[in-house]
Amino acid sequence: MSGSSTSHTDVTARAEELLAAMTPAEKAGQLTQYFFFSLPEGEAVDPALGLDIQEQPREVDAALGRGEVGSLLFMTDPARINQLQRRAIEGNRHGIPLLFGFDVIHGLRTILPVPIALAASWDPATIERGQAVAAREARSVGIRWTFAPMVDIARDPRWGRMIEGAGEDPYLGAAVAAAQVRGFQGDALGAAEHIMAGPKHFAGYGYAIGGRDYDEVNLADAELFNVVLPPFEAAIRAGAGNVMTAYMDLNGIPATASHWLFTDVLRTTWGFDGFVVSDANAVRNLTTHGFAPDLPAAGARALAAGTDMEMVITDPAFAHLPEALESGLAGSADLDAAVLRVLEAKIRLGLFDDPYVDEDRAHEVLADPQHREVARVAAERSAVLLKNEDDLLPLDAAALDSIAVIGPLAASKRDTLGPWVFDFDLDETVTVLDGIRGAAGDGVRVEYAQGVPVVQRTFPSMFDMFGGNRPEDPEGFDPDAAFAEAVRTATDADVAVVVVGEWQNMIGEAASRSSLDLPGRQLELLEAVVATGTPTVVLVMNGRPLDLRWAAEHAPAILDVWYPGTRGGEAVANLLFGTTSPGGKLPFSWPRTVGQVPMIYAHTRSHEPENQQRRYWDEASTPLFPFGHGLSYGRFEYGAATVEPASVPLDGTVTVAVEVTNTGDRTADEVVQLYLHQRHGTASRPVRELKGFQRVTVEAGASTRVEFEVGPDERRYWNAAVRDHVLDASAFDVFVGGDSIAPQVGSFEVTA
Ligand code: BGC
Repeated sequence: MSGSSTSHTDVTARAEELLAAMTPAEKAGQLTQYFFFSLPEGEAVDPALGLDIQEQPREVDAALGRGEVGSLLFMTDPARINQLQRRAIEGNRHGIPLLFGFDVIHGLRTILPVPIALAASWDPATIERGQAVAAREARSVGIRWTFAPMVDIARDPRWGRMIEGAGEDPYLGAAVAAAQVRGFQGDALGAAEHIMAGPKHFAGYGYAIGGRDYDEVNLADAELFNVVLPPFEAAIRAGAGNVMTAYMDLNGIPATASHWLFTDVLRTTWGFDGFVVSDANAVRNLTTHGFAPDLPAAGARALAAGTDMEMVITDPAFAHLPEALESGLAGSADLDAAVLRVLEAKIRLGLFDDPYVDEDRAHEVLADPQHREVARVAAERSAVLLKNEDDLLPLDAAALDSIAVIGPLAASKRDTLGPWVFDFDLDETVTVLDGIRGAAGDGVRVEYAQGVPVVQRTFPSMFDMFGGNRPEDPEGFDPDAAFAEAVRTATDADVAVVVVGEWQNMIGEAASRSSLDLPGRQLELLEAVVATGTPTVVLVMNGRPLDLRWAAEHAPAILDVWYPGTRGGEAVANLLFGTTSPGGKLPFSWPRTVGQVPMIYAHTRSHEPENQQRRYWDEASTPLFPFGHGLSYGRFEYGAATVEPASVPLDGTVTVAVEVTNTGDRTADEVVQLYLHQRHGTASRPVRELKGFQRVTVEAGASTRVEFEVGPDERRYWNAAVRDHVLDASAFDVFVGGDSIAPQVGSFEVTA
């Protein structure tokens, strides 16, 4: 019997029966999720983590023996997972299986482009397909649950975790969130070859003050409801079985203990019936926050708020729930409700019927060549062509004798994959250099020069302990000689491809940055290469916007390839040589300089809007590249749009239609975007907001008609004056085009 075919009442009855036979300690155990580390041989744990790697597995093993563990995370080896599962099932008198979770963020063995890149595809079908591959691989090794998607809106690129989300916009964010949940989970919780999704971090984590990861968030309700919550709601509507809390204080209350978030919003308003897990150590850390005096109180308050499971490295607060029950700190109804939710998830996922995995089959699934194809296509569809002066791209390999490939990131397998991957295979990873070598053909000489040294973080990353994550220069690397060599290589070539960006350990969790400059001497190198007069293509590897002002002015072509994953280099080569056309669009406004952040396109008009382009006296207050920007190898022209009818009642729907023609000579994709502006009403509304998009493929010389429906859902917003969602009668302006500076194409009235 699979989880998905089990009826709601069967599931509840089975869970209730188990619950009735459990002691308080067993119940608390079901609500505890331990990390279980197995570091690669020879790797040491950063002493700053204060973690005894010998002692920690012993603590977990003892808890398993007492039947007091509900879930484990961080294992990917199917044999080890089976072994631990057996230990758990045999160790508890109810035979309750463990639920194995893992951060399957952008692939397990086959690494997809990083999440911000997937969002840049503006293509829910590609995203869904990619995460379905990730789910299939994870499920094959025994992982049943991913701590993904991260759906936190990010508007401050100093915050490194921007790379894990879908950028600045709630409408795009909601579409990307739902697509990821569908990809991970399939049709229903427990679907074959799928895993449970856990959107995170509820809520507001992306607004860390100063972009400093883990720091407090102070966020007005209007921003929460209109910007931060919609992607979560979309993920819940798509069926997500789990939600993860956030580390930081939200408006003075630790998010992990926010009754308002988990009970009022998530369960009561949205009807979420899955379970909530804390972020790592976040329940224990209610004491660190100065919110709870001790561990029993921390556990009791998190539970009362609606956090069902504690993710912890060692010494869980929830282990004190039995004593908190006795002293009256915690309520038994809360405890039972949480345990029921966890048991129901385990039943729905089919764990009771099928707790083990087939280790041989896992190896086959992980090696599936089709997964690599999905990753390659996703990388192609994610790239964003930021600039292409005089059609320098695509390169015509037949007309070239030589290509110079320059920059350390061009040849770094580990960096090609991006952060938040642990089970990758470097041997099969295709770098940009490998990809260009493979695609250029025999007649083209491809020369590589590193040019500049690898840059290290001032403060190391905790992720560097996971084997091979810290970049290094080759032995005997001489920076000055390497720089000169790179310039010589560029001078001698017909075209130079310079790869610039951040090393992958500079972006992600605990990777906030006070600057958006290209680290190290990369800009200097780029300037020197462009100065040779050799036509230069800039490839950017990044998970956040970097300061590209110089490149945008002086380099003829810029292609943002993000961290493109296992088959990234091949995808990049296909784009460079025109086997396929770029068609991605920016999921954030690209600031000129760090001093402009946070920068958003959906700001209100506020006071003196005519001066909004020059709010700073020293730099334009416009983006370097607008939200939604991205070129292709086609040329898109928009016909006159129709907006009909001209007037509708509050619950009415307007249809906007436009014909898009590719007047270029290559088949290409365009992401047609619709933006809406409410002219007046019971609140000031943004100058424009994305309310529809469609990625279409149009052959050279062909046209396609694109239609959007603009109904009440597109016009409703949360209003701080009435503290509720409202629909205003007003006039609305409609903008349609290929980015967020698209022209106005019409307007309509909404009458009361
Ligand atoms: C992160 C989560 C992640 C968890 C488990 C935490 O540090 O904030 O996003 O899922 O670790 O790895």
